[in-house]
Amino acid sequence: MKKRVKVSAPGKVILSGEHSVVYGYPAILAAIDKRATVELAGTISGTNGKVLTDLAKYRLDKVVKKLSENFSFSIKSDIPSGSGLGSSAALSVAISAAVTKITGQKWDPEKINEIAYQMEKKHHGNPSGGDNTISTYGGLLWYRKEAEGLKLFKSITPKKRLPKLFLLDTGSPSESTKDMVELVATSRQKNQKRMDKIMIQIELITKKFLHYLLNEKRAMLSELIVENQRLLEELGVVSSSTKALIRKIEKIGGAAKITGAGGVKAGSGMLIVYHPNHQKLLNLAKTNRLATLAIKLGEKGVQTQ
Ligand code: MEV
Repeated sequence: MKKRVKVSAPGKVILSGEHSVVYGYPAILAAIDKRATVELAGTISGTNGKVLTDLAKYRLDKVVKKLSENFSFSIKSDIPSGSGLGSSAALSVAISAAVTKITGQKWDPEKINEIAYQMEKKHHGNPSGGDNTISTYGGLLWYRKEAEGLKLFKSITPKKRLPKLFLLDTGSPSESTKDMVELVATSRQKNQKRMDKIMIQIELITKKFLHYLLNEKRAMLSELIVENQRLLEELGVVSSSTKALIRKIEKIGGAAKITGAGGVKAGSGMLIVYHPNHQKLLNLAKTNRLATLAIKLGEKGVQTQ
């Protein structure tokens, strides 16, 4: 019997903790209102059924190829790819969930997330697992990879309304997420003491961010973003053109940070930008011919359509 399923999963921003999260430091991630949607249809037989059970063995591009060869399969995504918004993780999660659904298995987020993580590993080498986890569960998450076999996360319910944040496109990085994670790993091998010191400072900012969200301590959002960005620059994941742009944003009273892996040779992907005066920010984007995107945080995780 022919079956049809449609599933969508959200992209994400990392509010604090990118890169250091790969080394077991915490990160705060938020699902955004940009989603990847997949439609999968067909009659399951012995041969194409094996494709579905073997999914976690393949890299994401191969998974897409295999599904397209064996089923009616389509992808629609409004998550810009290669810009730090978790487009590949959202696609992995949506595919993992679509397969769960079409094979009549119980909807089990833990399992959906684990299969998506295996796909992410093939794609990115050494991911923290944060991107697929936020895409599976949605909302805002405190996430920490204690060990490969123990990833802790907890949903955060902010005690305040977050001010409006914008995404500003600094251009596609010429490096992949895998390249950027490897770049940091190489720097860490060369100078572990220095890199660990920076990551410990990032953890402190991530904690301050948590307290800010929970209204437990007074903190200025703009200061948290500015300090976080400085530390990311020290990690060496931001290009000089992106740094120059961020200094311009700071000069007009705003704050911006990269979100995700960044990039050093060309663009660094999307920036999360906060400015109390939206118009000032939009004017700057216009003068510099940069695309902006207003985003909502804390959107729903993977779901059937
Ligand atoms: C990618 O969105 C964020 C990184 O921290 C890598 C990871 O968490 O897997 C750079």
